[in-house]
Amino acid sequence: MTGDISFGALPAKAEVIEVCSRDGFQNVKTFIPTDVKISMLDALVGAGFKTIEVTSFVSPKAVPQMADAAEVMTDFKRKRPDIEAVALVPNVKGAEKAFQSGADTLNFVVSASESHNRENTRRTVEESLSELEEVCRLRGDKKGVKIRVSVATAFFCPFEGEISRGAVLKVIDRALSLGCDEIGIADTIGTAHPLKVLDTLKAVRERCPAEEVVLHLHDTYGMALANAMTALFLGYRRFDAAAGGLGGCPFAPGAAGNVATEDMVNFLERLGIKTGLDLTKILSVSHSIPDRLGVSLCGHLAVTRIPS
Ligand code: COA
Ligand code: ZN
Repeated sequence: MTGDISFGALPAKAEVIEVCSRDGFQNVKTFIPTDVKISMLDALVGAGFKTIEVTSFVSPKAVPQMADAAEVMTDFKRKRPDIEAVALVPNVKGAEKAFQSGADTLNFVVSASESHNRENTRRTVEESLSELEEVCRLRGDKKGVKIRVSVATAFFCPFEGEISRGAVLKVIDRALSLGCDEIGIADTIGTAHPLKVLDTLKAVRERCPAEEVVLHLHDTYGMALANAMTALFLGYRRFDAAAGGLGGCPFAPGAAGNVATEDMVNFLERLGIKTGLDLTKILSVSHSIPDRLGVSLCGHLAVTRIPS
């Protein structure tokens, strides 16, 4: 595969969405007490995030870590009506719980790959899309609540290998036809590379404006920031990231963590792209993760001893 990544203008601003309390926590094997989850969110808020993916409303049998989603979301929205709280949902039941708990945005996940969708949600892609239709119908009278449809395994799948952009566009076209507000493009297993990202995002750009798209990049092969750079040159400027580089889908074998928030913010700011976030505060939250959660840090900035 060859490609021409032209070096166009970079944006002046970008948005980083913190997802540690969803994608990060879901991959921690021992249950994190609810008060620890809440105190970590309190600390993250202090860094200035406008949008945080707070939790996921999924089956507690599938992901026991998220059994306290309603409590965490309710606490979050009670304290911070002004911060956009995102909740990942895989089905109607999750959407109903997210609506009840006051989530501002539902992040409905559908994989481009049939095999991963089945592992993750026990549904075919078509079944998930039918369920999305029902979620959109339920949202009808809840104006103000946004629906983002995130296409998981958008580049590579742990079971099927390379994913065609046609499979990604199929999910996106359906989501847009249902009136969904945003699209997420997820490198769930973190093996995408810039030319693959270029190929898919160029096609996505024909379908919906870049400001309605969020990139979700894991860093298994260490190319998440290179992929982000590719996306920036194409006009995309909204990125998920997880403090401490935590994360990984429990149903995608081999997936490493997300791009670390501190690495993403450092990268963007050094490119002269404003994030409005306080890197020192983010780093201090990330450095607290081993004590708070009993897991090791990933990423770069949080583990280096070179002063930033
Ligand atoms: N939230 C809470 N509970 C849920 C739920 C949700 N969104 N969806 C289903 N449940 C409950 C059901 O009530 C049922 O409970 P019961 O056994 O006590 O009656 C149980 O979970 C099984 O329900 P069912 O509809 O048969 O679901 P399933 O077993 O086919 O599982 C999913 C399907 C989608 C719910 C499950 O695979 C899931 O939660 N997947 C998400 C995986 C994930 O979080 N991946 C990482 C993020 S991408
Ligand atoms: Zn993820």
